[in-house]
Amino acid sequence: MADYKITLLKGDGIGPEIVNQAVKVLDCAAEKFGFGVTYDEALLGGCAIDATGVPLPDETVAKCKASDSVLLGAVGGPKWDSQPGNNRPEAGLLGIRGALGLFANLRPSVIFGPLKSASPIKDEIIGGNLDVMIVRELTGGIYFGERGRKEVNGQPAAWDTEMYTVGEVERIARVAFDLAMKRNKKLTSVDKANVLESSRLWRETVKRVAEDYPEVELNHMYVDNCAMQLVRNPRQFDVILTSNIFGDILSDEASMIAGSIGMLASASLSGSKLGLYEPIHGSAPDIAGQNIANPLATILSVAMMLRYSLDQSEAADAIEAAVAKVLETYRTPDIYEEGFTKVGCDEMGDRVCEAL
Ligand code: NAD
Ligand code: IPM
Ligand code: MN
Repeated sequence: MADYKITLLKGDGIGPEIVNQAVKVLDCAAEKFGFGVTYDEALLGGCAIDATGVPLPDETVAKCKASDSVLLGAVGGPKWDSQPGNNRPEAGLLGIRGALGLFANLRPSVIFGPLKSASPIKDEIIGGNLDVMIVRELTGGIYFGERGRKEVNGQPAAWDTEMYTVGEVERIARVAFDLAMKRNKKLTSVDKANVLESSRLWRETVKRVAEDYPEVELNHMYVDNCAMQLVRNPRQFDVILTSNIFGDILSDEASMIAGSIGMLASASLSGSKLGLYEPIHGSAPDIAGQNIANPLATILSVAMMLRYSLDQSEAADAIEAAVAKVLETYRTPDIYEEGFTKVGCDEMGDRVCEAL
């Protein structure tokens, strides 16, 4: 029997609540599909700062590297907002992405049938279905470029650098083209090539990689237009390929089309089997500790883990089907509509297990 070692990085705010529900569901899936899971917890983010003084202790990196996969809740919160930039909880998150070489972040924006009415976008715009895959570069660009403070014209100033190498663009582009080949063979590369030199290199490189994928229909779009098109007509998109910062912003926007930021899962991949799986949302300090957070993004991240890292695609399909089933009746407050049964975080986890 396969036995997987999973490192849990529960993090801060709602992190522990939502990861606990995802673990519940993973345990149910393990029992049903006949595999074993062993968990080990490690510290990341604010909780790591409190315990060790730094957001990413060496021990956490070592534990993640020694596991088959990593499940993350979220990090950050007002308590640590006055930390110096390189010691913030968020710096720990960037650190673990960098240390594990997780350059490819897949953020599927999928609308579950029963949730269509919960989306602020009109039914006729969403159409029969919505299934957009955002492929976000995750270990380069302005998040990892040089930054600092200096004096300019006698005033304090600050700077950050957006830079991409051809190699970085090529490898993320290949991930996106490979995915497009398995989907509807349509790829939209999103950049700001009318202004940024790094985006011009991005666009040239994507065009060159496209020569290896003649079947994929490629178009380029400026990020400002893309933000608008996502709301105007999201169905025009199949795979969106974009940089670290643009992908961060566009995926929060895409989450709302799917009903709530509490619904969107993600996989961060390196090309090896080890991946890190996390919801796209943050630690939601405003609702932490109240048992009202939506755990479905984290539960769906477990489904992505089963599919991309653990070769348990049947179990992944079953979790997604269980989530769809549960949404016909049960809703956390963020996706609540009249006529449904309102449940808390904990009960939502139980209902998904039951449906499994
Ligand atoms: P956020 O995603 O935490 O919250 C934005 C809004 O969405 C809040 O109103 C929140 O209550 C709501 N929300 C988020 N997740 C939800 C869920 N599962 N169920 C129901 N409602 C949910 O973003 P923010 O407020 O901008 O950031 C809060 C903290 O989280 C910051 O410290 C930020 O840096 C951090 N953050 C961490 C991650 C991560 O760890 N991956 C991602 C984004 C933000
Ligand atoms: C996300 C978050 C992170 C990011 C922050 C917390 C570093 O917003 O995972 O979307 O911007 O990548
Ligand atoms: Mn984000």
